[in-house]
Parts: sequence; C-alpha cells; structure tokens
Amino acid sequence: MQRFEGYRALVTGAGSGIGAAVARRLAAEGAAVLVTDVDADRAEEVAAGISADGGTAAGFGCDVSEPESVASAVGAVVERFGGLDTLVNNAYAGNPETVLLEDSREDEWLGAFDVTLHGAYRCCRAAMPHLAAAGGRGAIVNIGSVNGEQDFGGHAYSAAKAALAGLTRTLAVDSAERGVRVNLVAPGTVDTPSWKGRPQALVRAAGHYPLGRVGRPEDIAAAVAFLASADAGWITGVTLPVDGGVLIGNLAMRRDLGPDRD
Ligand SMILES: NC(=O)c1ccc[n+]([C@@H]2O[C@H](COP(=O)([O-])OP(=O)(O)OC[C@H]3O[C@@H](n4cnc5c(N)ncnc54)[C@H](O)[C@@H]3O)[C@@H](O)[C@H]2O)c1
Repeated sequence: MQRFEGYRALVTGAGSGIGAAVARRLAAEGAAVLVTDVDADRAEEVAAGISADGGTAAGFGCDVSEPESVASAVGAVVERFGGLDTLVNNAYAGNPETVLLEDSREDEWLGAFDVTLHGAYRCCRAAMPHLAAAGGRGAIVNIGSVNGEQDFGGHAYSAAKAALAGLTRTLAVDSAERGVRVNLVAPGTVDTPSWKGRPQALVRAAGHYPLGRVGRPEDIAAAVAFLASADAGWITGVTLPVDGGVLIGNLAMRRDLGPDRD
C-alpha cells in the first residue's frame, strides 16, 4: 500500500542529505513532492532523480530566511499539485561546533536562528491554511536534533533546535482541531554532507551510539514518513529521537564503570 498516494508534500533544504532522503522516501510512497532548497540546482537534481525513478517531483529554489521566497514555494506546491498535505522543515544553518561564548559572533547566532527556527516558523505560517484544508491529513514534521534535548555542543544550533521543539508543541495544540498534526524528529549523528571532510569524526561518533553506528539519511526519512502518515494519526506534538539510542544512556560512563576497569 502506498501511504502517500494523492498527498502533496513540500520539503525544505532537500537538495542534500536528510532532506533529499525525505523527499525520495515520500515520493517512493506515492507523494508528489516539491523539493526545495536555497540551492535551486541541487533541488532540481534531486527532483530529477525522483522523476527518473518513476516518482512525481519538481525542484524549486527556496530560501527559508526570505518570507517572499517561502510564500512562492508554498504557492508553487499548491499550484502544481493542487494543495499541500505534508510540510517537512529540514533546512538549517549554523555551525554545530562550540566556540567560547565570548568568541562567538552575533551575526552567526542570529543567522542560525533565522534559518533553523524562524525559517520553520515562516514555512509553518505560510503552509498552515493549506494544511488545514487538507481534510484532516495535514502534517508538519520538523527536523530537530539531539542537540535540542541534551548538550552535544553548539550554543546557537542547540538553542534553535530546542526552540523548534517548543514551537512544535504549541503549534500542535493550536492546530489540532484544524486537523493538522505537528511533530519533531530529533536525529543523532547522521552521515551527510554536513560532515564532509570529517570521516574520522564520524568513526569516533559511532563508538558512542548504543546501536553501534551513526545514522543514515534513510533512517531519518523512515521516521519522518511515519509521523507524516496516517499511521501516526493519533500522535501530535512529540519529539521522536532517531538516534541509535544515544539519548537514553551514557555509554562512556557505563564502559568506565565496567568491572574490568577496577
Ligand atoms: N547530519 C547530522 O548529523 C544531523 C544531526 C542532527 C540533526 N540534523 C538536522 O538534519 C537537517 C538536515 O541536515 P543535513 O545533515 O542533511 O544537512 P545538509 O548540509 O546535507 O543539507 C542541508 C541543506 O539545507 C540547505 N539550506 C541551507 N540554508 C538554507 C536556507 N536558508 N533555505 C533553504 N535551504 C537551506 C542547504 O543548501 C542544504 O542543501 C538539519 O535540520 C540538521 O540540523 C542533522
């Protein structure tokens, strides 16, 4: 059964990594997907790949830091595909690395919030009337991070992701009676172009995950598809960690306290 037959979806930051995997997964399950990214060429490339695989997709340049650009993207999905059922807020900006707070730059702090948090707000605001008109199947899935739940470094990035979880909850209650569910997926470390040039960091990270590896974009896409689908019809406002178990324990301490260490 195709869970998204007849659905219309918009994914932000979908020219790469997790966003591209989400777009491919929704399309593979029957959705018509507007693949958007600030890099329009990459969005077009991902959309072309989906079409070549027999799916329905179109690429569209959208910078979530620009309200007009967001309005155009929402207008485009409605015009091309006849409505909007699923919004996935995936675009982010900012360096997840930690610098001393006194060495941080205000423009970088504001820039991280402008894309990661305010971008999602702009997309939700523009999409909501269409999602509310989707006959009870409207859904938003925000992409957060384990950084929004626990300290893994990165002040602005972590604060913006925590705030996104807060927006997820308030919006979930607000839009429930309009038939729109709002949830958040919090990925752990995922092997995407974000980590380009740091293969050893990914290898080291894997050792901290109870499930023994870092994530793949497809791991996150599967969870996003679940929360967007009717299978999650009675789930709203939650943060779903998709993190190989990293949030539920402290593997380093457990190893350190093992009997072989005495
Ligand atoms: N990779 C990880 O380890 C990891 C872990 C936790 C959470 N996440 C989250 O997953 C999401 C995707 O991350 P990824 O690793 O796939 O990143 P990525 O760098 O592979 O892709 C991010 C995409 O966002 C686009 N983008 C940047 N600014 C934009 C803007 N203003 N408007 C629209 N698009 C913009 C980029 O062009 C890029 O295509 C992000 O929200 C990130 O915070 C990633």
